[in-house]
Amino acid sequence: MSTNLDALVSPEAPVRTALKRTILMCKPSYFTVVYRINPWMDPAVPTDTALAVAQWQTLYDTYVGLGFDVHLIDPIDGLPDMVYAANGGFVIDNIAYGAAFTYPQRQPEGPAYMDWFRENGFDVRVPQEINEGEGDFLLVGDVILAGTGFRSASNSHEEVSAIYGRPVITLNLVNPNFYHLDTAIAVLDDTNIAYLPSAFDEPSLAILRERYPDAVIATEEDAAILGLNSYSDGYNVVIAARAKDFERQLRERGYNPIGVDLSELLLGGGGVKCCTLELRR
Ligand code: ARG
Repeated sequence: MSTNLDALVSPEAPVRTALKRTILMCKPSYFTVVYRINPWMDPAVPTDTALAVAQWQTLYDTYVGLGFDVHLIDPIDGLPDMVYAANGGFVIDNIAYGAAFTYPQRQPEGPAYMDWFRENGFDVRVPQEINEGEGDFLLVGDVILAGTGFRSASNSHEEVSAIYGRPVITLNLVNPNFYHLDTAIAVLDDTNIAYLPSAFDEPSLAILRERYPDAVIATEEDAAILGLNSYSDGYNVVIAARAKDFERQLRERGYNPIGVDLSELLLGGGGVKCCTLELRR
């Protein structure tokens, strides 16, 4: 039997494999926008914390439905951006490299996340350099793609390379709207990524083109609603519901895009991936 959905998947699309993920999330109980540290944030625009919680709950339920092991860190009153758990650290091989935030408004989040990692049996490395965790560090297979330009300092890339003993590739971000690497690149599986070319300088773009000639190229339109800020288990890719071209491209390549609406959290400059920190034991 063939359904409409099957018809959208090209017959040559490779078979994708879902891997069970273990992640950390933080409920946006204290979410609001009262300062501006990225162009998406405007304290004059009202936020609806209950709606943020409801939208976040849908994301949480989606992950649970996919069979992920979802851990939670308690939100802290006065840290409205703590919902963006991706920035809380970078975790591979049971080693948690802590975050050291660029702006004072988020700095207390660093120790809060490190405490959680310690209490949950991770080997915590206190950072010497400014870095915002998985917002700027993305593992693709054995390689770590590392962003700089707006938040994480390039010295943190060396620190990460020394800690994990894996190749780290520095990429320079140039558009303030895409200030974290996870707003400009989506990791789809161990060998495939999607990205927004205009978010990078020429040398970084040359690296991306050479390493990932078959990458999904996102449209400006999809990127403008943080459509790239998505999370994949290798088959299921949780994306912004409004990122329609990205959805189509994923489907064509044999992935299963799942749209969620996080419009309220977009007011803080974050999307699906920002709310998701992968825990690799
Ligand atoms: N308001 C937060 C900030 O500007 C949003 C963080 C988004 N996180 C991410 N991983 N891109 O720091």
